[in-house]
Amino acid sequence: MDARRAAILDTLGVERYRARAGAPAAAAAAAAAADGATDGAATGSADARAAMDWDSLATEVASCTRCSLAATRTRTVFGVGDRSARWFVVGEAPGADEDRQGEPFVGRAGQLLNSMLRGTGLAREQVYIGNVLKCRPPGNRDPTPAEVRCCMPFLHRQIALVNPTLILCVGRIAAQNLLGTDTPIGKLRGSVHTLAPFGIPVVVTYHPAYLLRSPGEKRKAWEDLKFAMGVARGDRA
Ligand code: URA
Repeated sequence: MDARRAAILDTLGVERYRARAGAPAAAAAAAAAADGATDGAATGSADARAAMDWDSLATEVASCTRCSLAATRTRTVFGVGDRSARWFVVGEAPGADEDRQGEPFVGRAGQLLNSMLRGTGLAREQVYIGNVLKCRPPGNRDPTPAEVRCCMPFLHRQIALVNPTLILCVGRIAAQNLLGTDTPIGKLRGSVHTLAPFGIPVVVTYHPAYLLRSPGEKRKAWEDLKFAMGVARGDRA
């Protein structure tokens, strides 16, 4: 293990590990074909949305007034990263820092997310990062079901465009809303879920903000990341 990787793992408070060899699996999903099947709430007709490229989607998000968060946001937070990434990281919603800067995971939780990703061998720039909500809920309250309904089609379209090998959900809100379940996060961890209708594997771990509050749980998060690396390689297809 190189010194940089060892330092990252020390930061995370996890035991050092031996990186396993092997290329990521070519588990590409049929996301493009499934694109028309997402909810039409946010972007008009399914046909129009299915045709949306990155630019038109970004324009749509930037001008969105479909829920009341439009009145309280400073700016929308679209998403960031490699639009051909193998990993798509899904978070909950922008916080105060993200609302100011217009980019997901730029605050303290973002710094930890970057460390977690580096532990897997991925730089932030090598993944795509997007949230369930594109606008900050005031006071960082949980998203309402109505807000999620309005915003989820944007995330679905981003996922369809990236067509990742793996989706990593960070936190209960992201996982439950993306997977459409109320199963507790403790039970969602450690299994491969599938995002219908895209057929893309989904792995769930704790939110970095939670890990900052509960550093004792970082070891479990590292187990999740190792599990995710295995899924991305196709070990658990
Ligand atoms: N938490 C999230 O879930 N997303 C962000 O972008 C920032 C903090």
